[in-house]
Amino acid sequence: MPEKIKISLLIFSILQFLLDLYIFKNWKKFILQKKWSNSYYQFYLAVSIILLPLSIYTANYHFNNPVRDTFHSYLLMFVNIWWISKIPSVLSLLLKDIISLFIKKKKPKETSFEKRRDFLVSTGWTLAAVPYLITTNGALNTKNDIKVKTISVPILNLHPDLHNTWIAQISDLHLGSFFDDKLMSRTIDKINSLGADMVMITGDFVNYDHREYEKFYKLMKKFSKMKNVFACLGNHDHYVSSKYIGDLKDMINSSGIDLLINESRVFEKNKGRLNIAGIDNIGHGQNYGDFNKTFLNVDNAFNTILLAHDPRNWDQSIISKRYADLTLSGHTHGGQLVFEFMNERFSPVQFIYKQWAGLYTNTEQHIYVNTGLGTVGPPIRIGVAPEITMIRLVPSNVLT
Ligand SMILES: [Fe+2]
Repeated sequence: MPEKIKISLLIFSILQFLLDLYIFKNWKKFILQKKWSNSYYQFYLAVSIILLPLSIYTANYHFNNPVRDTFHSYLLMFVNIWWISKIPSVLSLLLKDIISLFIKKKKPKETSFEKRRDFLVSTGWTLAAVPYLITTNGALNTKNDIKVKTISVPILNLHPDLHNTWIAQISDLHLGSFFDDKLMSRTIDKINSLGADMVMITGDFVNYDHREYEKFYKLMKKFSKMKNVFACLGNHDHYVSSKYIGDLKDMINSSGIDLLINESRVFEKNKGRLNIAGIDNIGHGQNYGDFNKTFLNVDNAFNTILLAHDPRNWDQSIISKRYADLTLSGHTHGGQLVFEFMNERFSPVQFIYKQWAGLYTNTEQHIYVNTGLGTVGPPIRIGVAPEITMIRLVPSNVLT
């Protein structure tokens, strides 16, 4: 295991221990105040004592085993549910303690004050169970519940023969994150049944090892039965060691996927022609992309679709600089955490990525950010299911 990961693992474990100690201290105080049975806090203590070394073991296992068995995948899921669900409780307890620091501690005379405070504390502990339910649902249900999203994208000067051309986009497979092949198998069957003209895969086939793809190779070969399957690489694909990245690229290509690495192709439908360009990854300290090479053979007489894993490329290098009518990206996963409120979607990831999920438009140029299929880190998706996007190209005078 690299030294950097060892140090992060150590810091993470110390942090976990401190957070758990903090919650335990407060939980014990609450139980003693309520005069409930000591076994309530003793049980919490026992689970924590078992789970702390188990978490360290699981993290260590996952850093050393890119291809995981089902048992370890579920173990990772379980410890993640346990730790992630604590975050809201820790934040509320911290808030409570900070407020207490500013309020002068004197014994209130009215019992109504005490009653109110007890009620709030009891409600707080009851509500602490909610994140466990939400996280468990994200791990067991949302993560496996593929959603097909359908959108229409208006393209300027779209050739009549290309009107209603359908593109199926998937992204961020992170094959090593799948517990088994069920989700990927369902995804491929679904794409097959949708009958799109093209399939676009916008990078991050694996987490960091070519063996993840090897495990799914037989399944990925199903793409060879489809026509016009194009892909680009993502930052995670470049985490594969330089010795094996060639093997990964070979496996992708021989699965029937046309991997575009700073190059372009022409898609034809009757007399309509469309440039399909794919740029290698730029972002996260990587600079494998070369726009000049990618657009070298692009004929500006036709519309262009660009595959670029990281959506930040759109603002930085595509809008008004290089002409691509539609850019397809992934990478953000929607932060694997999305809240919906009054028809608006919110995710912590939007503080990092301006374009983080869905369709964005700047005059005649568009970007669609697919929120991905797999997971990185916790094998959990809260409020953001694995996504297949069906994109319909329409002439720009047709409203979306
Ligand atoms: Fe990704």
